[in-house]
Amino acid sequence: MAPSNLCMAIVALAAVTAAAVGEVEHTFVVSEVKMTHLCNETLVTVVNGQLPGPAIEVTEGDSVAVHVVNKSPHNITIHWHGLKQRLNCWADGVPMITQCPIRPGHNFTYHLNVTGQEGTLWWHAHVSCLRAGLHGAFIIRPRHAYPFPKPDKEIPIVIGEWWSINLAQLGKNMEDGYYDDTSSATTINGKLGDLYNCSGVVEDGLVLDVEPGKTYLLRILNAALYSEYYMKIAGHEFTVVGADANYVRPFTTDVVAVGPGETVDALVVASALPGKYYVVAVGGQAPKPDIQIPATLSRATVRYAIGAGNGDEAAPPVAPEMPDQHDFMVSFNFHGNLTSLNRTGSPPVPATADESLFVVLRMGSICRQGRLSCKRSGSKESIIVETMNNNAAMMDTDNHPMHLHGHDMFVLAQGHDNYDAVRDVARYNLVDPPLRNTVLVPRLGWAAVRFVADNPGVWYMHCHYELHVSIGMAAVFIIEDGPTLESVLPSPPVDFPKCNQ
Ligand code: C2O
Ligand code: CU
Repeated sequence: MAPSNLCMAIVALAAVTAAAVGEVEHTFVVSEVKMTHLCNETLVTVVNGQLPGPAIEVTEGDSVAVHVVNKSPHNITIHWHGLKQRLNCWADGVPMITQCPIRPGHNFTYHLNVTGQEGTLWWHAHVSCLRAGLHGAFIIRPRHAYPFPKPDKEIPIVIGEWWSINLAQLGKNMEDGYYDDTSSATTINGKLGDLYNCSGVVEDGLVLDVEPGKTYLLRILNAALYSEYYMKIAGHEFTVVGADANYVRPFTTDVVAVGPGETVDALVVASALPGKYYVVAVGGQAPKPDIQIPATLSRATVRYAIGAGNGDEAAPPVAPEMPDQHDFMVSFNFHGNLTSLNRTGSPPVPATADESLFVVLRMGSICRQGRLSCKRSGSKESIIVETMNNNAAMMDTDNHPMHLHGHDMFVLAQGHDNYDAVRDVARYNLVDPPLRNTVLVPRLGWAAVRFVADNPGVWYMHCHYELHVSIGMAAVFIIEDGPTLESVLPSPPVDFPKCNQ
């Protein structure tokens, strides 16, 4: 075949594919609504009156338009967490970095393309603590087939928190270095579950009705402001098949660890005896001497149809044995078990790096009102900050889920000791490292990541603990235009929100 023919054949094929691609449209009305939990009425900012907000469900290759109508009294932006936003950083939704916020009474439409990504992502407001009420799943189904047997049913599992205090105020408190506030409950799909009650009346919990022998794909995401979560289902195992909308080589485990910002796709087969089984999510935390917050957990129920001599209706659900919430090895091992499922079309792992950065995540303090000297620890003259490469820093004993916008990072290795360049470079996995948009840097440890800067724009990188980002653990990557027409960032949309009118 002559080269020109080959060219035509490709063009024709492209036209056929494009025709099959869908357009998905959503309207997100952001407003404040009253919700009552734990005997308390709270004003929460949500999308379309729901918590969690609506799930966006698309097929790989679709384009999506989301009309955001801001009927709340707050400045709002929506971030599409994990979407690569190729040549589209204007729709990334980071206030004062990629856009001016959508002001009260104003609208803006985000145009998104979902190409080359399959699995579970999510969206959330990128407005300090308001994201505790403004978030939802973003589900991308394959255009062709899953690389595993098609599940009988898919179930999003959104782990979040219920805050009885006003979230806008919580954000202000955090920025002011005051962080004694804690959430009132952990939630699963917005429900607190039966561990919580209001004067003896238990809170609603999520119930998953299952049929024996069927396979369920759980699309798990952690939308909480605080805490990584450890999740178990009594009597059942998970087969992990994806994380952050990247397929992983399947492995089985009885516990899933999911840090703030991360997602995990896991298959669960309803293979237990008919009955009821608790699903428990418990918030992990660094051991003492770190400041301890009350343990947060929630539970849902997996329920088999009971009857015809099958099971005992009155029997209480079976409870799983949960790991110690301070046992960070649960998280370390879970993350260490992730490897990429290499398939045709998977991006190659860069064998070398053109530029290397050494970033130290630590705690520090600064003096209030821009003063150069002040009394530090414990005094009101200074405020605690979380830093990236500051010298005047102290040891920090938390892990940090570091999220990079617009890119996935290959996680080449992790350790829970001091990083040693000579020893640890030799351990880099350059064959099948997992690809993540959020990398959980282990407490008192390190992670080595590599990414390809192939998407011109301005990309935020920050810790996904709300407290940490609000007290400084954030940076911006500016990726310049490349030499070809396809690597030049287009201009911002004409109807882009303005900051000063
Ligand atoms: Cu999910 Cu910049 O965040
Ligand atoms: Cu952090």
